[in-house]
Amino acid sequence: MIDKIIFATGNEGKMKEIRLILEDLGVEILSLKDTGIAFDIEENGETFEENAVIKAKAVMQATGALVLADDSGLEIDYLHGEPGVYSARYLGEDTSYRIKNQNLIERLEGVPDEKRTARFVCVIAAAFPDGRVLTARGTIEGMIGYEERGKGGFGYDPIFWLPECGCSTAELTMEKKNELSHRGKALRAMKEEIKKLWKLEERKK
Ligand code: IMP
Repeated sequence: MIDKIIFATGNEGKMKEIRLILEDLGVEILSLKDTGIAFDIEENGETFEENAVIKAKAVMQATGALVLADDSGLEIDYLHGEPGVYSARYLGEDTSYRIKNQNLIERLEGVPDEKRTARFVCVIAAAFPDGRVLTARGTIEGMIGYEERGKGGFGYDPIFWLPECGCSTAELTMEKKNELSHRGKALRAMKEEIKKLWKLEERKK
């Protein structure tokens, strides 16, 4: 019987939202920090799925627990999907997002609205102690804006424009962003997959 899930992230902001969404699974949700194990996992996959699975499996093998991990990023259609899986490493891991965002705005200079389409993608992987692996993907569609807007969120949020809201994702409340975001969607989809699996197993007993 599974009584806990480890989420392979050291980001406490993410953990708050993850705990809230996964609450009704009725199991303890631990972060990497809670486990006390230090990890340095190389994310050398070429897709969000590969990277999420690499992380989830590595932590599952070290702990023997059911482990979830996520990988996410921004895909800009005009730039053929860049920065994609390299979103965190784009222009260097330590480069500020002010510079990264400014650079992307410049690379899209003169590009009209209809060609500025982009999406945030998040893939959640689950690695079960018996070796099974599940993945779930969530996306949010938007456009690259012409300037940075908003003080909320993080990363590329100030340049990610949501036409239907008339604002950037950095201008949404945390609740609204979680409701609409790629991460919230992927996490809720994964929760449903896990529930289905557990129900099937219950029936087999
Ligand atoms: P990771 O999945 O934590 O490795 O995140 C990858 C990178 O994608 C982040 O460092 C951000 O640059 C970008 N990213 C992912 N999700 C978001 C988001 O919701 N807003 C802004 N940037 C994001």
